[in-house]
Amino acid sequence: MDRKESATKKLFVKTYGCQMNVYDSQRMQDVLAPLGYQSVDDPAGADMVILNTCHIREKASEKVFSDLGRLRKHKKAKEANGSDRMIVAVAGCVAQAEGAELMRREPIVDMVFGPQTYHRLPEMVARANRAMGFDRIIDTDFPVEEKFDHLPDQVSQQGFSAFVAIQEGCDKFCTFCVVPYTRGAEYSRPGPDILREARQLVAHGTREITLLGQNVNAYHGAGIADGDGAEWSLGRLLRELAKIDGLDRIRYTTSHPRDVDDDLIAAHRDVPKVMPFLHLPVQSGSDRVLQAMNRKHDGADYRAIVEKLKAANPGLALSSDFIVGFPGESDKDFEDTLQLVRDVTFIQAYSFKYSPRPGTPASAMELQVPEDVKADRLARLQALLAEQQIAFNEACIGQEMDVLLDRMGKYDGQLVGRSPYMQPVYVKGLSEADLGRIVRLKITEARPNSLGGELVEGSGSERNVA
Ligand code: SAH
Ligand code: SF4
Ligand code: F3S
Repeated sequence: MDRKESATKKLFVKTYGCQMNVYDSQRMQDVLAPLGYQSVDDPAGADMVILNTCHIREKASEKVFSDLGRLRKHKKAKEANGSDRMIVAVAGCVAQAEGAELMRREPIVDMVFGPQTYHRLPEMVARANRAMGFDRIIDTDFPVEEKFDHLPDQVSQQGFSAFVAIQEGCDKFCTFCVVPYTRGAEYSRPGPDILREARQLVAHGTREITLLGQNVNAYHGAGIADGDGAEWSLGRLLRELAKIDGLDRIRYTTSHPRDVDDDLIAAHRDVPKVMPFLHLPVQSGSDRVLQAMNRKHDGADYRAIVEKLKAANPGLALSSDFIVGFPGESDKDFEDTLQLVRDVTFIQAYSFKYSPRPGTPASAMELQVPEDVKADRLARLQALLAEQQIAFNEACIGQEMDVLLDRMGKYDGQLVGRSPYMQPVYVKGLSEADLGRIVRLKITEARPNSLGGELVEGSGSERNVA
C-alpha cells in the first residue's frame, strides 16, 4: 500500500435532526474507518466533511446552507496550502430531497447521498479521489438491496446508553411531513440482526438501548434470519432483548398511536426493563385537524390508548410532539389541543409552528395560518406544557429513583445520570469510577429541566465491564 493510502485521514461529521441521524452518522464513521478516516471535532484541515442533514422544518434545512457557506473558507484554505483537497459531502434528508439542486446552489459540494446509500461510501470516496475534484457524485437511490445488509457487522458506538436502528422509513404520509419522501418506504430489520448488535454493545459496556425508527412500533421484522416467515412485533422484540444479561434498560422511539397494539401494551406491564416513559406524538387535539393531517387517529383514540397503557403500567408517563397553526386550524381547534394536554398530561414535549415543506400536500392547502397567530398559539401551548413538566419534576421530590450515571457534572465529584423518565439527575459525592452504575437516588431538588438527588446507602449495581 502506498504511504498516502495508509495514512490517517481526518473526517469531520456534523449531525442535524433526529436520533436516527445520530445513529446514521456513527454508522458512516464505521463504514469509513477501514479507509483510514478518523473522526475529528473541527472542520479546519479535515480531508472529508459530512453534513448529515435534516429537512423536517424550514429552519433545519436553512442551517445546512449557512454551514456550507462557512465551510467554503476551510476548503479553500486547505487547498491553498498545497494539501489534498477537502471532500465536502451533504448526506441525510436535505440531500435526499434536494439532490442535484444542492450542487447547483453550492459549488463546494462534491458529494450528495441520501439516508439509504451511505453503505456505498467507500466507492463514492474512491470515485471522488480518482476524479481529482471534477467528478461530483450524487447517490439518492432507494436501493433494493438493504443498506443494513451491507454495513459493517462491528459497531464502534460505545457508551452506557446507545442507539440501535430497528426500523426505517414511513408509509403513513401525514400531510405535513417530508419523512416518507426522504427516508422512503417502511422497512424492518430482522430480529436476530438487532439482537446481535445489542449483544455487541452490551459486551462493550452499554446498559441502556434506545431502539430507533421513524415509525418504530410499526416494527415487523423477520424473526429468523433465514426466513421461516414468522415475524416479530415490537412487543416480541422487546421481550427477546430483555433476555440479554447486562442490558438493564430498553426504550424505543418514535411511536405512532395507530401502531400501539395489545402486545406492546402488555410488554409495558410484563417487562421491567422496558422503561415507563413513552414518546407518543399526538400533533393536535382537534379531530378536524387530525383528519386533515391524515394522522389516522382522533383524540378519542389517543385518550383510549393512553388509558390502556396506564392500566398496564400505572407508573407510565408520556411525552409528545405538537404542531400548532396547521392550515385551517381555528381558535376552537387550538383550544381542543389545550384540552387534550390538560386531560392526558405530558411530562415532557416538543412543540412546533407548522412549517410548509415543499412537495407535501399541506403546503398547498388553503387557509395557511398567519405567523403571529402561530407564534401566539405556540407560546400558550408551551406555557401549559412547561407547567406540567415542572409539576411532574416537583412531584418527584422525596421519591427514590434508579439513575444510570452517564456523564461527569460541572463540579468536582458531581455526576449526572438519567432517571427512568429521562430526566437528568445531578448527584454529588461520587467519582469518575462510578460512571456506568445504576444507583438509587432520593430526589431532593427539582428544576424545570432536571432533578438533584442523594445516594441511598448500599444501592447500585455494577457496570458490565471494568
Ligand atoms: N417519526 C416521527 C416524527 C418525525 S418528525 C413521528 O411519526 O412522530 C418530528 C416531529 O416534527 C413531528 O412529530 C412533528 O411534530 C414535527 N413536524 C414534522 N413536520 C413538520 C412540519 N412540516 N412543520 C412543523 N412541525 C413538523
Ligand atoms: Fe412523518 Fe407522519 Fe410518518 Fe411520523 S408518521 S414520520 S409524522 S409521515
Ligand atoms: Fe430530519 Fe430526516 Fe430525521 S427530516 S427528523 S433527519 S428523518
